[in-house]
Parts: sequence; C-alpha cells; structure tokens
Amino acid sequence: MAQIISGKELAQQVKNRVSQQVIQLKEKGIYPCLAVVLVGKNPASMTYVRGKEKDCQQCGIESRVIHLPEDTGQQALLELLHSLAVDSQVHGILVQLPLPAHLDEQAVIEAIPPEKDVDGFTPVNVGRMMIGQSCFLPCTPAGCMEMLRHTNINLTGKRAVVLGRSNIVGKPMSMLLLQQNATVTICHSRTENLKEICARADVLIAAVGKPRFVTQEMVKLGAVVIDVGINRLEDGTLCGDVDFEAVAEHASAITPVPGGVGLMTRAMLLVNTVQAACQQS
Ligand code: GUN
Repeated sequence: MAQIISGKELAQQVKNRVSQQVIQLKEKGIYPCLAVVLVGKNPASMTYVRGKEKDCQQCGIESRVIHLPEDTGQQALLELLHSLAVDSQVHGILVQLPLPAHLDEQAVIEAIPPEKDVDGFTPVNVGRMMIGQSCFLPCTPAGCMEMLRHTNINLTGKRAVVLGRSNIVGKPMSMLLLQQNATVTICHSRTENLKEICARADVLIAAVGKPRFVTQEMVKLGAVVIDVGINRLEDGTLCGDVDFEAVAEHASAITPVPGGVGLMTRAMLLVNTVQAACQQS
C-alpha cells in the first residue's frame, strides 16, 4: 500500500512557518495584506475565495476581498487593479479565475505588477521561472513540488510525466520538474499512446480535470502519483483525476483528494504573500 501524502499535515506545517514569519514582520511594523478580486458568482470560485480568506486569518495576514458583479466591465476591473497596484498597504494581488467570458483574462493578469503577483501568472514571473530566476511560483505547482520533496524522491534522471498543459498547472509543473533534473514528458488531449507513456513514469502528475482518468494500468509499480484534479461528481462529492483506491495499490506514494494538493495550493499562496510583503518593505 502506498504512502499517502497528506496535504493537511504538510499545509499545516507551511502555515505554522508562515504564522511565525508574520509575527516577525509585524514586529517590524509590516502588516502583510492580500487583495483577492472575485468577479461574478462562480460557485467553485466563491468557495476558493472563502478558503483563502480563512487561511489568511489563521496566519495573521490581512485579506481584502473585493467582490464585483458579473457584469463588471474591463475598464472598471483594470482601474480597480491599478488602485491596488499603487496601494502600499497591499502586498499581494490575486484575481480569481476563471473570469466571466466578456473580460480579457490575459490583459487583466498583466495589470498586476509582478512584485504583487502572488499567483505567479504575469509574463514577467512566468519568464523568470522559465530561466530559473527567483520569482513568485504559481501556487499549485509549487505545492506539488513541496509534496514531492516530502517523499524524499530524488528527481534527478527520473521519468516525470505531466498530464495536462495548462498555463496554471501543466506547463509550470513541467518546468519545475525539469529544474530538478527530471526527464519530463507533457501529455495532453492529443497525445498518442498516452497510457503507455504514463505507465513508464516514475512520477506522474495528473492535471486533466477528468474524474478518475488515471487508472491502475497507467501507473508503474512504485511510482509517485500527484493528483491535482478537483472534480465535483453528480452526487456532490469531490474526486481527483486518479482512481485512488486502485492506483494506491501500484504507487509508492500518492496524494488524496480531498486533503491533498488543494490544501497545498492554498498554503503556497500564503508563502508568496509573506514573500511579497518582505520584498516590498
Ligand atoms: N482558479 C483556479 N486555480 C486558480 C489559481 O491558482 N489562482 C487563481 N487566481 N485562480 C484560480
């Protein structure tokens, strides 16, 4: 049976560290503050934003949630972001995605100054990550790397397969694995022989957004499996991209859903926010 990598425990350790750092910053008169912008009423987004508020509160970070109506215009959103960009009390800015379809997501992201971009989504931070410079790492891939570190797996020379090529997870995840000297393959909806490629992986990252997409036959004996998926089933329960019960019989370590990567994503946002506050002071 595989080691279960607990996002709950690891996230708590990260949050304890962040809380200590916040205390030290406050002694110096620095009050870390995260602004979270939510447009519309996407139920999943509303849940995520509430979670972020709660996390900030637990760690002593001030959070300012700005909830705008669904029909907010591009110009109004850009103006809000400009006011947050120039507000020296705000250290981190996060715009919850996805945005309503009438808004230009890329233009909105680019209105966040790189030094406040705690999501690591702006072109400057993406570019910096690509060439191995210090930057804000996107929270989900950063959280996955923390989980891999916890398994003590040495990634050098290992075959890592990333399922999914999104800007938020698949692409940056691949780059972070490469930086640790893994041999990285990115698979996606057009990949041929996907099952065979997965079955050769020493490390498998599932970020496709399809419930139980990764089956036991796709996982090599002893592989480490990181499940980024958060899928809501018709009965309301959450389920990952991995068929957990069956795959756990093959894997040496595996992350659960819920209680896995999602909690680490949230924790890494706090890490980035404290880093932003340090750097701006
Ligand atoms: N929507 C889904 N994941 C994320 C994330 O990591 N950051 C933001 N801003 N929106 C998201």
